[in-house]
Amino acid sequence: MNFYVMTLFPDMIRDGLNTSITGRAIAQGRISLNAVDIRDYSTDKYRHVDDYPYGGGAGMVMQPGPIFDCYTDLVKNMEKKPRVIYTTPQGRVFSQAVARELSAEENLIFLCGHYEGVDERVLEEIVTDHLSIGDYVLTGGELPAMVMIDAISRLVPGVLSNDTSAQDESFQDGLLEYPQYTRPEEFHGRKVPQVLLSGHHANIRRWRREKSLERTWQRRPELLEHAPLDKKDLEFLKRSFGYDSESSGKL
Ligand code: ADE
Repeated sequence: MNFYVMTLFPDMIRDGLNTSITGRAIAQGRISLNAVDIRDYSTDKYRHVDDYPYGGGAGMVMQPGPIFDCYTDLVKNMEKKPRVIYTTPQGRVFSQAVARELSAEENLIFLCGHYEGVDERVLEEIVTDHLSIGDYVLTGGELPAMVMIDAISRLVPGVLSNDTSAQDESFQDGLLEYPQYTRPEEFHGRKVPQVLLSGHHANIRRWRREKSLERTWQRRPELLEHAPLDKKDLEFLKRSFGYDSESSGKL
């Protein structure tokens, strides 16, 4: 999977993603990362890429020309037009489901905005998806692009060393993950739950499932409405917390 990022701060993207698991995936060739400086496509000797907004108002707006030329350069050798993601608080909110959908793409281009925004005409011409990482405003689109690239990369086969670890975790099955423990067996008087030391795999699986359900009920109850739950899960939720799937949506 190939990621391309059009940005005014390519070093920020490279520094952030060339580390840890994404860094290893890049080194191993499982994913590739090409952070391109939009300023390289400026036609002005001072490398300007922004100008005052028509109609007045505060701040500067990124001009359409350099972004379009940068995009044209990136796609010129691609067989199929890739999805182009503009990171903006006005977009659809990014989620694990969106990460999963995007992880099936061969090439993805991110456009990171800055200043007061980007000239609307180039967005209309090249952008296929407007995506936000949440209802707050950041100084630029680089961190959101890195967040999305990280979440998408870990779903690409071979990026995580253990293929099952992407499956077990929070959200993959619509629930939050169960708690984890490692040595020592006792820490500050707190013991590891006995069942995890028992070696009884069926009991451990059931205990983990129930902890996932409990945690989701306590921390993100709205997720239960869409999580695939079986009869045993529903019985556990009803018995432990009085959860009733029939009436939950109407609460
Ligand atoms: N740019 C600035 N804030 C953002 C956000 N919350 N999500 C995506 N892009 C952004």
